[in-house]
Amino acid sequence: MKVLITGGAGFISSHIADLLIENNYDVCVIDNLSHGKIRNLDPKAKFYNVDIREKEVFDIFEKEKPDVVVHNAAQISVSNSVENPLEDASINIIGTINILEASRQFGVKKIIYPASAAIFGEPEYLPIDEKHPLNMISPYGVSKHTVEHYLGVYKKSYNIDYVVLRYSNVYGPRQDSSGEGGVVSIFCEKLINGQAPFIYGDGEQIRDFVYVKDVAEANLMAIEKNKSGIYNVCTNSKTTINNLFGYIRDLIGKDISPVYVKEREGDIKNSYMTYDKIGNEIGWRPEYAIHSGLKETLEYYLDNI
Ligand SMILES: NC(=O)c1ccc[n+]([C@@H]2O[C@H](COP(=O)([O-])OP(=O)(O)OC[C@H]3O[C@@H](n4cnc5c(N)ncnc54)[C@H](O)[C@@H]3O)[C@@H](O)[C@H]2O)c1
Repeated sequence: MKVLITGGAGFISSHIADLLIENNYDVCVIDNLSHGKIRNLDPKAKFYNVDIREKEVFDIFEKEKPDVVVHNAAQISVSNSVENPLEDASINIIGTINILEASRQFGVKKIIYPASAAIFGEPEYLPIDEKHPLNMISPYGVSKHTVEHYLGVYKKSYNIDYVVLRYSNVYGPRQDSSGEGGVVSIFCEKLINGQAPFIYGDGEQIRDFVYVKDVAEANLMAIEKNKSGIYNVCTNSKTTINNLFGYIRDLIGKDISPVYVKEREGDIKNSYMTYDKIGNEIGWRPEYAIHSGLKETLEYYLDNI
């Protein structure tokens, strides 16, 4: 079976590509390398250095005729989306419509799409389930959620199956530690370099950290199971930022304390999600406890910083 992955040179998608190749899928990738890196890519994946908004996308679909598309290419920065909502919408909405149109024209059977907990805003109840009311507070939240509607329309109009996977906080090897990178990659890099990371607020805010290899497994199962729908991919575990810092510091074994700074405006206080729906319908559950995921992640950063 052939799977086309957009954004396949990025953090999460490159792990999905690895797992699919390991499971004998034929994988091709479209990525403009705006954020992704060639070194993330398994050489067995056929690579096209193309922007998802280009017409060339149609030539690639015509040539490759993928059965499934994992559409991960996106502008992923919340603050960039606030500063430049046009660019955010151009990539995350218009670029996606280009991929959907190519999928329709060249007979794609199923699309897997990663949405985000950014669509919930400050939770009204915890853990967040798939029925939780939506309250987008950034253009990024709006653009990611808009695609969920498009997928529904392409299913109704053209019978293209879809699975939306709403991730909590994904972490693991290859995550960007610069700028607005994930908190795990930032803590690892700072502590390895003997520097004190910032913690915004008192560090008691709760997050739900899901390991990238579990996320890749959820994508594989979403491809293989005969289901369409929207599913949370998360751990339903509560980790405070202070806990997280402590775990990584203990693994590294350096006596460094964080620097507490004023909390960021718009930051959510507590967020964790339930995976009951995907567990019941697709059979996925997270295999990695936070300690084992952090250990593997740290090994990667120790070799790559
Ligand atoms: N990291 C998380 O915790 C998280 C949570 C929820 C959802 N997501 C979603 O998962 C997906 C992957 O996120 P990630 O964290 O791996 O980010 P990433 O930046 O590592 O991956 C995105 C990839 O898309 C590529 N890309 C961006 N714009 C493009 C364009 N116009 N044309 C072609 N390629 C383009 C980038 O070069 C990059 O390789 C995104 O859709 C993101 O919204 C991530």
